[in-house]
Amino acid sequence: MTRRILCLPGDGIGPEVMQEARRILDGLARNQSGHDAGMIGAIQVEEDVVGGAAIDIHGCPLTQDTLQRARDADAVLLGAVGGPQWDDLPFDQRPERGLLGLRKGLDLFANLRPAQVFSALADASTLKPELVNGLDIMIVRELTGGIYFGQPRGIEDLGDGRRRGINTLAYESDEVKRVARVAFDLARRRNKHLCSVDKANVLEATVLWREEVIRVHADYPDVALSHMYVDNAAMQLVRDPKQFDVIVTTNMFGDILSDAAAMLTGSLGMLPSASLGAPRDDGRRPGLYEPVHGSAPDIAGQGKANPLAMILSLAMALRYSLDARQAADKLEAAVARVLEQGARSADTARDGHPALTTSQIGSRILEELANG
Ligand code: IPM
Ligand code: MG
Repeated sequence: MTRRILCLPGDGIGPEVMQEARRILDGLARNQSGHDAGMIGAIQVEEDVVGGAAIDIHGCPLTQDTLQRARDADAVLLGAVGGPQWDDLPFDQRPERGLLGLRKGLDLFANLRPAQVFSALADASTLKPELVNGLDIMIVRELTGGIYFGQPRGIEDLGDGRRRGINTLAYESDEVKRVARVAFDLARRRNKHLCSVDKANVLEATVLWREEVIRVHADYPDVALSHMYVDNAAMQLVRDPKQFDVIVTTNMFGDILSDAAAMLTGSLGMLPSASLGAPRDDGRRPGLYEPVHGSAPDIAGQGKANPLAMILSLAMALRYSLDARQAADKLEAAVARVLEQGARSADTARDGHPALTTSQIGSRILEELANG
């Protein structure tokens, strides 16, 4: 069966890092390693625009046609969206709406954000190496509900020059249960510890969150469940991050905590993410795979971008949507080896060591894949 992959390079450094992911995808498809026939089977790669790139061409950040192509794909790879030239557009026409439209339109409710420290990079963290060396956390962020999408929302005119801004935090039990199951399943395959993060001392929507997570726990007696308030979780993440295995939390708490967790690893340029929907009837699981970093317009087009977050996002796509776990393992191992050999892009370069360009890093990964 031929797998369809839709690439959406997006804006800023998105196209540069996507180019490296595509070279690697082509390499895997061509069986570059020679002795490892059929590493990922037949693939068909398509490309389309999203975010600012789509605004420039179509006048909106995500067309219905692109959304439909994303729905028809087995996996969507996304670079990054946004840039200063689109910052003055009305809220609902900004590049970010393209990303939110894809998440909602594909019902990608579970956002997996691993924060993993490659031992070769332990000294890149702002935390002491002993606090982060070996760190391996998986944050599961609810992605299609909560305050990001709750109604009512908007800005009301109250007259007399006074205004009111409104957003709504609401969760239904099924929304909590389905993301909790994804998190429990992951914890089961890891160190069997799930921490659910809420604000149940203040917010009713998260009282419900906690109760529903406890209900789902009944099906996972082999996984230890704990609960933490979000303020404490933020503090614990920088105090002793290795206490965590899998964290599951709401859309907005996950947005914030995943940035903090990302920085523990020393480089935002290293972190991939996967956004998953429910498995379809044919067993396939749609997914959107993107780096955690943004479009970094200040360094776009200079070969300074680190392509590894995009490449590791491709590895997640191979693992979760393309039924190619072995290829995913090989790709992740190739990344670790290239880092151990001292290859660094500008963001992680050490004093006195020249940085490699975006495409040089991509080439090194390709060579390692061929050797490994
Ligand atoms: C993220 C980003 C997005 C979010 C923005 C760009 C809409 O911060 O993926 O974490 O808030 O979800
Ligand atoms: Mg964010």
